[in-house]
Amino acid sequence: MMQAVQISEKVYWVGAIDWNIRDFHGYSTKRGTTYNAYLIMSEKPTLIDTVKKEFYDEMMERIQSVIDPKKIQIIISNHSEMDHSGALPQAVEAIEPEEVYVSDMGFKDITAQFHRDLKLKTVKTGDRIDVGGDTVSFVEARMLHWPDSMFSYLEKENVLFTNDVFGMHYATGKLFDDENEERLWLYEAEKYYANIVLPYSDIVLRFLAQVQKMGLSPKMIAPDHGFIWRKDPSKIINLYAKWASQAPNNKAVVVYDTMWGSTEKMACYITDGLRAGGTVVKQLSMHSNHRSDVVTELLDASALIIGSPVLNSNIFPAMADVLCYLKGLRKKGLVGAAFGSYGWNGAPIDELTKMLESMNVQVVAPAIKSPFVPDENIKKQCRDLGLLVSQKIAEKLK
Ligand code: FEO
Repeated sequence: MMQAVQISEKVYWVGAIDWNIRDFHGYSTKRGTTYNAYLIMSEKPTLIDTVKKEFYDEMMERIQSVIDPKKIQIIISNHSEMDHSGALPQAVEAIEPEEVYVSDMGFKDITAQFHRDLKLKTVKTGDRIDVGGDTVSFVEARMLHWPDSMFSYLEKENVLFTNDVFGMHYATGKLFDDENEERLWLYEAEKYYANIVLPYSDIVLRFLAQVQKMGLSPKMIAPDHGFIWRKDPSKIINLYAKWASQAPNNKAVVVYDTMWGSTEKMACYITDGLRAGGTVVKQLSMHSNHRSDVVTELLDASALIIGSPVLNSNIFPAMADVLCYLKGLRKKGLVGAAFGSYGWNGAPIDELTKMLESMNVQVVAPAIKSPFVPDENIKKQCRDLGLLVSQKIAEKLK
């Protein structure tokens, strides 16, 4: 039988580890993930969140290793996305808890997902429930990252259950921050922020201020993905404050695809100009990079330069894919420009400029278009564009 792991006096981890997931609704999860669920072994045993449907048995085995599941009296669902609620209907059926608590929006979302009566009760920010020997209070975390998102706080033990927030897609058998090497997890935490939380950065800043005002200083932060923060919860809070601020940095990202190497050649000259201008640059071909790694690189950048060849009077499909994805994630404070090669119709390259504008990127120059293979004049224009973008970033940093 798979075992629960005690994480504090009364709290046990009863989640599941998904070692081999590599695509999480379009986000590449090279290190897998975990679905963390928690069991409070108080006088009224309480389960916080469940797991993805396919991992129901693993969660129940871990619960059974410490308690007969039928003895659980309360279930709290902090977030209705299927990776945390997929096993909820089956768990409610097996456990028959007295109460199932959700936020108002959680009620709507869970009902719309499962179309059955799960005897849900709604709670709001400031509501508190007795779990027998301790109290759980609730803080709604709307749009972090869904309207229903909610935190639960076990008061006496000072443990904050934050669902997706402060988590990462990182499968690990080691449950705590101090057991995992920072060089391995830091990129995954940053990637998680860039791909899941970035559009809500203003809300993150307001929420962090609200939590500080409430005087919450949890000794442990227990998210629903990755590991638990016990040694230094302030570490991830400070990282969130930094990422959410989207402060300018002397960094540019050049994203492109190429057909016969011409657009790639242009990218190389732009990159060379950026380097000469003193800017840290990442040159990312969509042949070799996943959209979710592109946005991770963009998180701390101040410029986005995009390139595409023309194919069938349109931009390359891989560029349409990444630009659609980036637009949704709404990175702020970027300058940028477009470039590309064509055979007989260069007009589609202007679509790239329009896409940048639709993403609220400040376009600093008209698109550079190369008929077929770039000549010396085009190469110079590309290098000059890199220098110009470096100059625009430097102005932002003043
Ligand atoms: Fe881990 Fe929004 O689900």
